[in-house]
Amino acid sequence: MKFPQFSMLPFLMVVVMLSLSGTTLSHPHWDFLHCLSLRLANYSTISKVIYVQNNPSYSSVLNASIHNTRFSTPATPKPFAIITPLKTSHVRSTLYCSKKHGFQLRIRSGGHDVEGLSYVSEVPFVILDLLNFRAIKVDTKNEVAWVQSGATLGELYYAIAAKTNTLAFPAGMCHTVGAGGHFSGGGYGTLFRKYGLAADNIIDARMIDVNGRILDRKSMGEDVFWAIRGGGGNTFGIVLAWKIKLVPVPAVVTVFTVNKNLEQNATKILHRWQYIAHKLPDDLFMNVWITKVNSSQVGMKTVQATFRGMLLGGVDELIALIQDKFPELGLAEENCNEMSWIESVLYFGGLPLQSVDILLDKNALPTLSLKAKSDYVKEPIPESGIEGLMSMFLEEEADNAVAMIPAFGGKMDDIPENELPYPHRAGNLFEATYIVQWTKEENAESGKYISWSRRLYSYMTPYVSKSPREAYVNYRDLDLGINNNDYTSYEQASIWGFKYFKNNFKRLVQVKTKVDPMNFFRNEQSIPPLLSPWKKKGN
Ligand code: FDA
Repeated sequence: MKFPQFSMLPFLMVVVMLSLSGTTLSHPHWDFLHCLSLRLANYSTISKVIYVQNNPSYSSVLNASIHNTRFSTPATPKPFAIITPLKTSHVRSTLYCSKKHGFQLRIRSGGHDVEGLSYVSEVPFVILDLLNFRAIKVDTKNEVAWVQSGATLGELYYAIAAKTNTLAFPAGMCHTVGAGGHFSGGGYGTLFRKYGLAADNIIDARMIDVNGRILDRKSMGEDVFWAIRGGGGNTFGIVLAWKIKLVPVPAVVTVFTVNKNLEQNATKILHRWQYIAHKLPDDLFMNVWITKVNSSQVGMKTVQATFRGMLLGGVDELIALIQDKFPELGLAEENCNEMSWIESVLYFGGLPLQSVDILLDKNALPTLSLKAKSDYVKEPIPESGIEGLMSMFLEEEADNAVAMIPAFGGKMDDIPENELPYPHRAGNLFEATYIVQWTKEENAESGKYISWSRRLYSYMTPYVSKSPREAYVNYRDLDLGINNNDYTSYEQASIWGFKYFKNNFKRLVQVKTKVDPMNFFRNEQSIPPLLSPWKKKGN
């Protein structure tokens, strides 16, 4: 009699916790909580790890990592529970109980999934939120670091810069993006022409597979290690941490911004840029942003191309280089600023150039509603095509829209297409990400903004990659196709899969079939296994 009484204790604590919060639950929910509470074993842990609906902290924990308010409306499906593990055993327990009681698991690191897939599902689900898995260990002597998946890129860059100003990591520009999702999809930023993607610089990982086994590179094998570096999150397992190779940067880099609007020949300069930017030395990063801005004529709008970049070197070298190769830009000293690499993270992240402590602040920038789509461009777009693109930014829906166009080339040309799942390497002049944004208050009108982004995407068809029309998985776009919640055939997933991964999709399916044949880890765009056993049985 003693054992059952003892084993019920933690569950009774959860019952008390739930009754205090007024939650009403059905059987599977109780079963899940019972399962988890038995495994977590004490009240203080339970109260820090399990957040069920109506728990006073539930909404703040849920919203803390929602970076697209399109998915924080009353109508957005909510998880029945959010689990915020403090240690690996909690992650394994969550996995075990979700499997046992039939809840879908959505893994969340930074919560920047553009389609909200890390915190929204149409079927009953729980969120495994890695917000307590944020440790970072930097080893400057060996030029490596271990970073847990829940850490943000800002926290990673900050931790590196706290030890040295001549090492960095080539990942994304937004400081609140999480390592977990970002590395799982590739990840590029200001250093990618020099060193490749974040995923290209991962040398080991710690992952829990569907059977609860804790694996490292050696024990997971090279196929799985290949797949988790770019094959998309929530697919092969729960990645707890990544070992990354740090890369050298000079103590001083030079950043610059040149704005050109339609009246200042923006179209012609951007047209010319396409022929030059991808061939410039790999020490140079150059990105163009297209946005609507106020015109010099009062009350009028125009479209601006913002040429923003960074040289791993000094200002004189930068000006000489641009004057030689791209004089049309008219780069002058007043457009440039020398700084440390960590300060350049503030510059590209749209943060005030003051204390780098802001990199630790997840709420430093406002959160909006958004829809993103992406393309890869392999041939220069004719001037008339750019004119049409620019004119779409004068439309009403584009008040808060941006096309972000980073030049490719450099190291990206040297890495074979099948080296990692991310296939968009040699032959691309640039990627184009189109993002349309609106406020949370305008969510009722989201349809008009989303239609605008679809019209823009359709307009770009003649100018971008074809067969497949390639897209970047980290700018997830459910318009490209989705899985069914239960069985998804290879053919169905191929519709979106080849766009993100080209021929690497086939290998990703093979790896998935081996490591998660029952397709436990899944979402609307996760790699499906080949015919699952449960499908064979006719379920
Ligand atoms: P989130 O936690 O939402 O996860 C994304 C996906 O990965 C989900 O499917 C999730 O389930 C899964 N996942 C998360 N953690 C996992 C784990 N530990 N194990 C397994 N699966 C996991 N990209 C880029 O390359 N360069 C850039 O500069 C930017 N900038 C940028 C700015 C802004 C404002 C946004 C919204 C997005 C970007 N991105 C980007 C895209 C970004 O890289 C992409 O959305 C990442 O997947 C986000 O990773 P998070 O961990 O933040 O997201």
